[in-house]
Amino acid sequence: MEDRRNAEIRPAAEELPGGDDGPNWVAVAGVDEIPEGGICPIELEGFELLLIRNQGTVLAVQRLCPHDFADLVKGEVRDCRLYCSRHSASFSLVDGSVGGGWLVRDLKIYHARQVHEQIWIDAADVRANPPTQRRRRA
Ligand code: FES
Repeated sequence: MEDRRNAEIRPAAEELPGGDDGPNWVAVAGVDEIPEGGICPIELEGFELLLIRNQGTVLAVQRLCPHDFADLVKGEVRDCRLYCSRHSASFSLVDGSVGGGWLVRDLKIYHARQVHEQIWIDAADVRANPPTQRRRRA
C-alpha cells in the first residue's frame, strides 16, 4: 500500500483525539480502500496491522491472532467480531475481548480516525502497546 504520510493535508489538531498530538497521527489508507466488512493489511513503522471496517467505522487491530499467531487478514468480520480462520476464535471489535471461553489475550485495538477521506492511526498508541510480530529470519 502506498505511503501517504507526506502526501496528504494534515487534519487540524481538534479533528484528532488528543488535540495537539497531531504529529503522531499517520494517514495509512483512503476510506474507499476498505469496504464494509473488509480487512486491509497495512504496515506502520514496521508494525503489521489490519484496518477493518465494521458497521461503518474503521478500526486498526494487530494482524496476528493472539491464540497461535495465524494471519487475521484471512479472518472474517461478522456481528461486530473478527473470526480467526485457523481455529475460529473470535474477538470483539469493540474491546478486543475473546469470545467462547478461549484463554487467550485480547486482540489489540488501536486508535483510528477517518478525517478528510483518509484513515489515520495514532502511531504513539501502536508504539506504546506494540502488536505481536512475526519472527524475522536472520
Ligand atoms: S490461531 Fe487464531 S484461533 Fe487459533
